[in-house]
Amino acid sequence: MCSRNFRAKYQNMYIMLSSFALIVKMITLFWIYARYKLSYWKRRGVESLTGDLIFGNFKNAVLFRSAPGWHIGQLHKAARTDAPFIGFYIFHKPCLLLRDPDIIKQFMIRDFDNFCDRHFAGSNQKDSMGMKNLFGLKSPASKYLRTKITPTLTRSKLKKMFPLMTEIGEPMMDYLKNHPEDRDGVKLVDAQELSYKYTTDLIASIALGTKMDTFHYPNEEFPTKVHQIFHGFRRMVALVMLFFMPELMKLIGTRILSNSSFVKKVFWNAMENREKTGEKRGDFIDSLLRLKHGKQNPNYKFEGENLLYQTGTFFAGFETSSLCMSFTLMELANHSKCQKLARQDINRAIDKHGWTYEAFQDMKYLDQTIAESLRLHPPVSTIDRYTRQNYKIPNTDIVIEKGTPIYISLYGLGVDSRFWDEPEIYNPDRFAESNHITDAHVPFGIGPRMCIGMKVGQLHAKIVLALLLRDYEIWQTKDNESFLNPRSTFTAAVNGIYLHFKKIV
Ligand code: HEM
Repeated sequence: MCSRNFRAKYQNMYIMLSSFALIVKMITLFWIYARYKLSYWKRRGVESLTGDLIFGNFKNAVLFRSAPGWHIGQLHKAARTDAPFIGFYIFHKPCLLLRDPDIIKQFMIRDFDNFCDRHFAGSNQKDSMGMKNLFGLKSPASKYLRTKITPTLTRSKLKKMFPLMTEIGEPMMDYLKNHPEDRDGVKLVDAQELSYKYTTDLIASIALGTKMDTFHYPNEEFPTKVHQIFHGFRRMVALVMLFFMPELMKLIGTRILSNSSFVKKVFWNAMENREKTGEKRGDFIDSLLRLKHGKQNPNYKFEGENLLYQTGTFFAGFETSSLCMSFTLMELANHSKCQKLARQDINRAIDKHGWTYEAFQDMKYLDQTIAESLRLHPPVSTIDRYTRQNYKIPNTDIVIEKGTPIYISLYGLGVDSRFWDEPEIYNPDRFAESNHITDAHVPFGIGPRMCIGMKVGQLHAKIVLALLLRDYEIWQTKDNESFLNPRSTFTAAVNGIYLHFKKIV
């Protein structure tokens, strides 16, 4: 009996010890493997940041503790001050972060052919609506598409869009007027939500050729679905994955616009109706119909669903300009002197030109307030590319391997003290006409794949700012401070941007 017990005990101990030895062996092997993977940049002679054995340099972003774009900005900051580029890791994947305007121009402009495509995954057929447009397509399709989409956003097209962009402001102002207020006539408003609502109507009007009123009918199908797009957890996670871990997405697949059937319905109704009536509205549908009936090219044909996919551009584009407007308003709410100057500038331009497109071209100080906000709160905070062929970095012996993701952090550049005096301070005077603006300011990207919607985005932000600042004095209190959304790829506030509004009498 005694010897049987002893044997059983011995056997248990043996099992425990051998399991322990196996675990130790596996941990050691993983440790050796991870250390080897994380020495990639050192082995290639590239200065790099020390990474976590599992997450590389992306731990807080992967765990949604900090916004991924913000996190990459922290990597930019953590590097040696003068390093023109550094290596870092997303899990064990080696990535290169460019930190210097000269090297950025070298990659993005002079050697564009090798860096013409985004790392952002474009191969996923599950989400054609979100991906088969200029953001997601790779060359040569993207090159051709760009030549066709650029003329749809020219100055003359913008002038035609201007009245459509303005008329959406009426329900917004009416909504504000009726918003609850305290005894002193002060209203507490979530400016980010206000801007999203305006943007929902803007997308409907410009991209889908249909009038909506999200302010007064928020529960209709279209506003409800767009609200899900802007705020949906799944889409946020999908975007983070697509930007920073596209290989994973190629395996499991995802959708950015999780349910696009509601867009399809609105879009095809508008197209059909417009073809029948021949009506011209000055929106993107007019341009798409022209492209549909124009000469086609095998690289990208404007037919069938491809027409619909182009509207996806406006979802991301206008979301970006909506955030640009919200953060500019937040800064102006916290800098009353700048707010006063912006209001004067708006009123001066409108007194001179009336409420016209020309007036908005003449609001130079308002432009400065937006540029300064984009420096501190770039809505698209990270620019990405990947290396198409092995690439020797000029004036070095370093060769970057084909397939390596390349990133630029606009947060990082925006507050880098090599390029800005007192970078943490909001000061629109930096962008006064008489001042030289550093090449580190690239909120719309750089090179042949920079933003094509810059002018329309600026106009969108300016119209909403002008409407609000003309009528309201705006400020933010400490107890309503805004914080970055750690799950968003775009620069967005997690619980909105709550500002106080008081009507100017
Ligand atoms: C303030 C507003 C906006 C900001 C800050 C912004 C910023 C950016 C940035 C940083 C990029 C990446 C550029 C690069 O990779 O070099 C980009 C690309 C792009 N943006 Fe914008 N954007 C804004 C508004 C818009 C709007 C309103 C539209 C559409 C109507 C738009 C359409 C696009 C498109 C299509 C691309 C991809 C261009 C290509 O790959 O050739 N953007 N934007």
